[in-house]
Amino acid sequence: MPSTTTHALPTNPRLSGFQSAAAPPGFAATVGDGAGSATAAPAPRAAPRREAPARVLDRYDVFPHIEDRLTMTVREWLVYHWTMHRHFTKYLGLKVLKTPFDWIVLGDILQDTRPEVVIAIGCYEGGDTLWMAHLLDRLDYPCQIIGIDLSPTPLSIEHPRISWVIGDATDSQTVARVAEICAGRRGMVIEDSDHKYTVTRELLTLYERFVAPDCYFIVEDTIVDYIQMPPFPGPMKAVDEFVAARRGQFVVDRSREKYIVTHNPKGYLLRVGENGAAR
Ligand SMILES: C[S@@+](CC[C@H](N)C(=O)[O-])C[C@H]1O[C@@H](n2cnc3c(N)ncnc32)[C@H](O)[C@@H]1O
Repeated sequence: MPSTTTHALPTNPRLSGFQSAAAPPGFAATVGDGAGSATAAPAPRAAPRREAPARVLDRYDVFPHIEDRLTMTVREWLVYHWTMHRHFTKYLGLKVLKTPFDWIVLGDILQDTRPEVVIAIGCYEGGDTLWMAHLLDRLDYPCQIIGIDLSPTPLSIEHPRISWVIGDATDSQTVARVAEICAGRRGMVIEDSDHKYTVTRELLTLYERFVAPDCYFIVEDTIVDYIQMPPFPGPMKAVDEFVAARRGQFVVDRSREKYIVTHNPKGYLLRVGENGAAR
């Protein structure tokens, strides 16, 4: 009789309901020499060819392999990503300081809400700003981006949709310039600048007026409060206070954290629509 081995998938009790204990169809395999079996004898095997080992490009010092990190916690992943993404996450060569998940969610929000003006506070190299401009080009409707930063670095990026405002976002002149460019259009705001509690609190109150009903005020990097990263205190406290004081006007849309891994927990704030309902 041939020896028979069934390769069943290992089960994980925490995934009950998602993972079947039985091997999926086609996964069970029979191993044997065929003696005594009713199946046809296997064709004679050709002599094995010696293959050159596959070439692997690796930077294990920076990018560890998933098979060695299967028990990594989300916290450990976030800390790893926090240090790594500053150097390696880019759009057209310009750094983007976001998780790939939050980056995708930002695209979803632009497509779902179609604002007429996006106010991006804190643009760094402008990678995310240029990416939004290109996405809006593809969406092909009129929407301007106002990029605000203390530093003139992003000025080298030119795109017809982008207006740069170089200065402190908390400065009244900056806010006045933004109001001028917005000119009453349906706006959304992305705050990704200083992240200190006091500054975030100030920016929320200065820029909420530019957020239209059914549009978002995104406060980035609220995760710092969960992973004990500076600044202390971070933006989460400002968000909590703001939402508590604006009951009925803004809701925290946690459905935008659908990937679980986010730098912006409780940071997707949706302005309640004119009929009083959140979308
Ligand atoms: C985290 S980076 C922005 C990252 C960018 N949004 C991205 O996703 O790639 C923060 C930026 O905010 C700017 N910044 C900090 N405080 C600011 C303030 N008070 N007003 C305007 N910009 C500020 C800094 O110069 C820096 O470029």
